[in-house]
Amino acid sequence: MGERLYVNEVGLRDGLQIHPHFVPTGDKLLLIEALIDAGVESFEATSFVSPKAVPQMADAGDLFVRLPQRERVAYHALVPNERGYDRALGSGVTSIAVVLAASDTLNRKNINMTLEEAVLVCTAVLGRANTDGVAARAYVSAACGCPYEGHVETETVIELAERMFDAGAQDVAIADSIGAGNPAQIGSIFGALAKKHDTDRLSGHFHDTRAMGLAMTWASIAEGIRRFDSSIGGLGGCPFAPGASGNLATEDLVYMLNQAGFETGIDVDKLRAAVSVASQITSQHLGGRITDYFESQEQRAVASA
Ligand code: COA
Ligand code: ZN
Repeated sequence: MGERLYVNEVGLRDGLQIHPHFVPTGDKLLLIEALIDAGVESFEATSFVSPKAVPQMADAGDLFVRLPQRERVAYHALVPNERGYDRALGSGVTSIAVVLAASDTLNRKNINMTLEEAVLVCTAVLGRANTDGVAARAYVSAACGCPYEGHVETETVIELAERMFDAGAQDVAIADSIGAGNPAQIGSIFGALAKKHDTDRLSGHFHDTRAMGLAMTWASIAEGIRRFDSSIGGLGGCPFAPGASGNLATEDLVYMLNQAGFETGIDVDKLRAAVSVASQITSQHLGGRITDYFESQEQRAVASA
């Protein structure tokens, strides 16, 4: 059996948050069921953010208490501040993520905080999570480029990641939120971080805006990274980061990893059903770069039936 790689599905949060029409909680649960059926075991299911800022996430508490409880399936939730942390805890969340952008302007636009304010808020939430025994991740977002400020220095990303580890993050996700990075850049970031930290505590989160998602993943694997976020059908984007559309599609990621001999526990053919559910509930034609292959397989199956 190949080496284990871990896929964290973020379509329900990063994917849906930009979608203009509210997707009913029951439809979100249908998508989660389809993904579980395909073998997905880790979900960032929602975010406890201001419903005025992101109306799509207004049902966070309701969704969380209705999530299907299955052995080996874990759910996480993003929280932007202590208010969100309190709400998450009240809904039974046991694993949270805080978010810090690597540029001052994106922090202001996304969470209405300066970079230093965001560090303080993340530090406070991480401290509380550690005390409460709640698992905690920190995202360093816009790590490979900011939609407002442009270039982001690798040193800045590394320094922020270190500050989040110091504050108690168990996992730091390096997020190329607008798909601005390239494989050499992400290789340098993870190469530096992997010298000091267990690679089990580092994750890659890529957007496929400029078709770099899989190349970024492969460069990260070369640095020992084994945990990646992706979004079914390539749903996605941050409403406050222009150009953030299109997370790396789960089906593209899983196809590459399975083909390369890694063990993901996810069935790429069954992801097709999950892509269909995602398309239905958002009334969009979704699908990663592998969609044509899926469709030709289906046509062959119909022809031979
Ligand atoms: N959940 C629900 N409501 C919240 C909240 C939370 N986590 N945090 C603040 N609020 C409410 C406040 O109670 C207040 O409500 P009121 O107007 O009814 O009194 C209102 O939101 C404003 O609160 P304030 O503390 O002034 O927040 P803000 O307006 O500066 O916004 C955030 C800050 C972080 C709450 C908001 O920008 C946000 O939710 N951003 C999330 C963005 C996001 O999800 N981006 C994508 C993920 S990276
Ligand atoms: Zn993202």
